[in-house]
Amino acid sequence: MRHGIPIADGVYWVGMNDRKTNLFESIWPIPRGVSYNSYLLLDEKTLLVDTVKDLSVNEYLARLKSLLGPDRQIDYLAINHMEPDHSGSVPVLRRIFPAMTIVGSKKTAGFLKDLYGIEDNVQVVNDGEELSLGRRTLRFYMTPMVHWPETMMTYEVTDGILFSGDAFGGFGCLEGGIFDDQVQLEYFEDEILRYFSNIVGKYSPMVQKAIQRLGSLNVKVIAATHGPIWRSRPEHIISLYDRWSRYEAEPGVVLVFGSMYGNTQIMAEAVARGLSDAGLKSVRMHNVSTTHVSYLIQDIWRYRGLVLGCPTYDASVFPPMDALLRLLSTKRIAKRIVGLFGSHGWAGGAVQAMAGFVKDNGLGLVEPTVDVRFAGTPEQIEQCHELGRRMVERLGAKGE
Ligand SMILES: Cc1cc2nc3c(=O)[nH]c(=O)nc-3n(C[C@H](O)[C@H](O)[C@H](O)COP(=O)(O)O)c2cc1C
Ligand SMILES: [Fe+2]
Ligand SMILES: [Fe+2]
Repeated sequence: MRHGIPIADGVYWVGMNDRKTNLFESIWPIPRGVSYNSYLLLDEKTLLVDTVKDLSVNEYLARLKSLLGPDRQIDYLAINHMEPDHSGSVPVLRRIFPAMTIVGSKKTAGFLKDLYGIEDNVQVVNDGEELSLGRRTLRFYMTPMVHWPETMMTYEVTDGILFSGDAFGGFGCLEGGIFDDQVQLEYFEDEILRYFSNIVGKYSPMVQKAIQRLGSLNVKVIAATHGPIWRSRPEHIISLYDRWSRYEAEPGVVLVFGSMYGNTQIMAEAVARGLSDAGLKSVRMHNVSTTHVSYLIQDIWRYRGLVLGCPTYDASVFPPMDALLRLLSTKRIAKRIVGLFGSHGWAGGAVQAMAGFVKDNGLGLVEPTVDVRFAGTPEQIEQCHELGRRMVERLGAKGE
């Protein structure tokens, strides 16, 4: 670990695990941390692929030095992505290795200037351009907007290693094992989906473009900037990202409710019973006030059915639900079947606003929509149960 971990002859993982940060991008909880993967290639020329967040720069430098030895410098730094979780160490590296040529897209050159004031010794590469290190050759592919405009991927031709940037990455520190065949994949897949849905999902069409662009390549290893390195089953992580970015979902229902004094919760419980009575096992129920939106988005990306319920608050949607809906619109959630319910005291407004969300995002609606005054009548609570049953019918998900 101290000296990096070989992933091919002369190719080393030199990434860092971040076990300190609570909120990635100051938004997304990372209780299991995150890895910032960086890779060092030692050939006739030396090349580093991406760097790490400045948080661990000293440890990172020590590792690079131990691999380079006293005499070698870093000749090239290929930057696939400029977000500071990867570019944070660039200014320090530039000071230590002033002759290092930074290779990146045209947009990367602009970002280097505007983020760090770096303008010298930057080499802009175009799609398909190659760089020889001696024995190994790298080819650069422009994959813009996954999830920043400057993003590209670096493909090592000889061993078929694709340094893919954030694409195919996930939350979660590497816990000893760094390869897909050294870890329990199910344990990582949850955090990979959460990363995809929180960070990359909005750019699904661009992920699709990138996957199509890579279709002709013989990719043997996928080395992303976060999460495990895929050397045994690279096709598995490609297929996960492919499915998620096509909005393919599993049969199941996420039921997200908000409730101040319990009226809406009673409705939520009735919907959940309806789902179960109709034979559905994959039900994920969340209180919007207590579950972080990061996990809500993850589950919503996983399952095709979504039931939303909340009280009216100040003539509109209960604020935590409002925050979720805004984020889902921003993330461009699509291809989901939605059911709605809510409680109000006088003029109402929440259910109408939630219906606007469904319409604006082109989502499907399952009836009945149940909007009650305060506690609702027994008949109205029965309607909630009916909503659950109809949702399962619509999804064709009985027994799932
Ligand atoms: C702070 C607050 C603001 C509210 N604002 C509205 C409102 O603008 N319009 C309305 O019809 N009801 C309003 N209500 C009434 C609630 O929507 C109603 O009591 C509902 O049954 C609460 O559901 P709950 O028990 O699930 O929290 C408000 C209630 C509270 C506590
Ligand atoms: Fe990023
Ligand atoms: Fe990243």
